[in-house]
Amino acid sequence: MKIVLLGAPGAGKGTHAQYLSDKYDLPHISTGDIFRANLKEGTPLGQKAKAYMDRGELVPDELTVDLVLDRLTRPDCEKGFILDGFPRNLSQADALTEALWEKGQAIDCALHFTISQDVILARMSGRRVCPSCGASYNVNGMPPKKEGICDRCGSAVIQREDDKPETVLKRLEVYREQTEPIVAYYREMGREIPVDSAASIEEVRRRLDQILEGENGCQSEI
Ligand code: AP5
Repeated sequence: MKIVLLGAPGAGKGTHAQYLSDKYDLPHISTGDIFRANLKEGTPLGQKAKAYMDRGELVPDELTVDLVLDRLTRPDCEKGFILDGFPRNLSQADALTEALWEKGQAIDCALHFTISQDVILARMSGRRVCPSCGASYNVNGMPPKKEGICDRCGSAVIQREDDKPETVLKRLEVYREQTEPIVAYYREMGREIPVDSAASIEEVRRRLDQILEGENGCQSEI
């Protein structure tokens, strides 16, 4: 299964990508996580990406597209993948479609997490992430078992730099202007499947399983 996750910042892409990756044994490829890992390691890519991420803007395509397309050529992507945070504008979407098309492949489904801005702002203010392994928590409803400590690897969890309210508003503006048009792009390809992500995590998971395990896999009509 080749899956793209669409949705505004804070819509739940990372949370559900982690679930789907574990359940269906597919690599979870998050461009945000890749940039943050590079930043942590002090690579030139991380340094360049930081300025854009801190402002809530998109990292330029020339730093992003080849990175993802190259990642998709690794052996673990042969059985499929979950793309979280890519594509994020129409030129990235075109580049992905073309790269897959050259291999006789296509995206199977674009799961579109829908949610209101008020819920997003509430969730983002409570989000905490693990800087070591990338696990995501929320102080309101999904905290780590031991306060402030990652369940998975034991590191101290932190608030993301770009989760400050003013940066979140900028990210939402960038989403509306540059990323939202991709929803129509995949809808026209017959691949967009909306998922109400204001529901509880358990309910969203149930819905995702229903979609992915439907008679025709994720291309099923729902
Ligand atoms: P990225 O890391 O991709 O951030 P994003 O898309 O803004 O998404 P988020 O990670 O903020 O949210 P999410 O949808 O994953 O929500 P989550 O599951 O954590 O990108 C960061 C930056 O990198 C960008 O701004 C850009 O600069 C750059 N970048 C990345 N990709 C790029 C690209 N392709 N091109 C150019 N630049 C790029 O959930 C949020 C919170 O809500 C969590 O605390 C979670 O626990 C909670 N939650 C989730 N679902 C539920 C639920 N159902 N009920 C209750 N709580 C819930």
